[in-house]
Amino acid sequence: MKIHGKHYRTIWTNDDGRSVEIIDQTLLPHTFESVTLKTTEDAAHAIRSMQVRGAPLIGATAAYGVCLAMRQDPSDAALDHAYDTLLETRPTAINLKWALDDMRNYLRNRPHDQREAAAYERAAKICDDDVETCRRIGENAAAIIKDIARKKPDGKPVNILTHCNAGWLATVDWGTALAPIYMAYDQGIPIHVWVDETRPRNQGASLTAYELGAHGVPHAIIADNVGGHLMQHGQVDMCIVGTDRTTAHGDVCNKIGTYLKALAAHDNDVPFYVALPHTTIDWTVGDGVKEIPIEERGPEEVTQMTGRTSDGNVVTVDIAAPGSPAANFAFDVTPARLVTALVTERGVTEASKEGLAKLYPEFAS
Ligand code: MRU
Repeated sequence: MKIHGKHYRTIWTNDDGRSVEIIDQTLLPHTFESVTLKTTEDAAHAIRSMQVRGAPLIGATAAYGVCLAMRQDPSDAALDHAYDTLLETRPTAINLKWALDDMRNYLRNRPHDQREAAAYERAAKICDDDVETCRRIGENAAAIIKDIARKKPDGKPVNILTHCNAGWLATVDWGTALAPIYMAYDQGIPIHVWVDETRPRNQGASLTAYELGAHGVPHAIIADNVGGHLMQHGQVDMCIVGTDRTTAHGDVCNKIGTYLKALAAHDNDVPFYVALPHTTIDWTVGDGVKEIPIEERGPEEVTQMTGRTSDGNVVTVDIAAPGSPAANFAFDVTPARLVTALVTERGVTEASKEGLAKLYPEFAS
């Protein structure tokens, strides 16, 4: 995607071919700045602190975290230590484990003196594959948007509601849920996006709106509670979101609040789509509500807000009385029955064991 006329991915290697650069997403939308990762701990910190976030990008960053470990010490012990350090950074997005498993399996049986080069090759492939996968998801879901557009009167815009950020900032490029929006918009389909602000970390207001604005896609940020009202009044044609972990049965774990939007969509006959790459499917899990670990983050994310004042300073302020306790669950699970369809790089399928097994026979048991 382009920022200030320059094409960026969210993660890349520097000219030395070894250090890794990321966009610091904690500074967006006020400052666009990159940060250099030189060690595995730098990569772990970037994931933990959410300088990088979004399931596919978390996986890509972990892959490079393994590269940085192999650069310092290509031993089995260092490989296992990097795996464990990176795996414990965030518990919910399964792409993290997928990427770490892929890297470790790829490196484990190689001679030590080949591991560093092999690791960088593999991490680059994970990134390139993610870009191509997201592009295909975009094409598959753009067809759905175009279909809705055809049925709308007089070139009226397709109103799409999305939650959190599942755009290019959440992946290596393109995004999952936002990729079809960019593609359909570029093909001249009139589109308007309702952007859930996504409390408490405001990924919608800070990142999705930033992305859509940079691309020129018409949109409006809405408070998290507004979607149901819009749906009751016919102002949402479809919802599309990303996911951090989708089970083999089609249950969808995504940013907290997704479930409530799916309930409202179901009640109002608004189609609810989930866009995902195969790397987000956890084939070992059936019942998402019971089995997926839900990240709990610090209470200060709920009791405080960060923003820019009119004099340009970014400040954090309290929005609750001193000492008010808060709970901060970062994800929830939307049962498969509330999902109209899953859109993957291989096509569109119903959210069910059978649907996923048809698309991915090699993984399904
Ligand atoms: O806590 P975050 O910002 O990492 O959560 C991100 C999401 O919930 C996204 O919707 C999800 O990772 C899909 S990204 C393509």
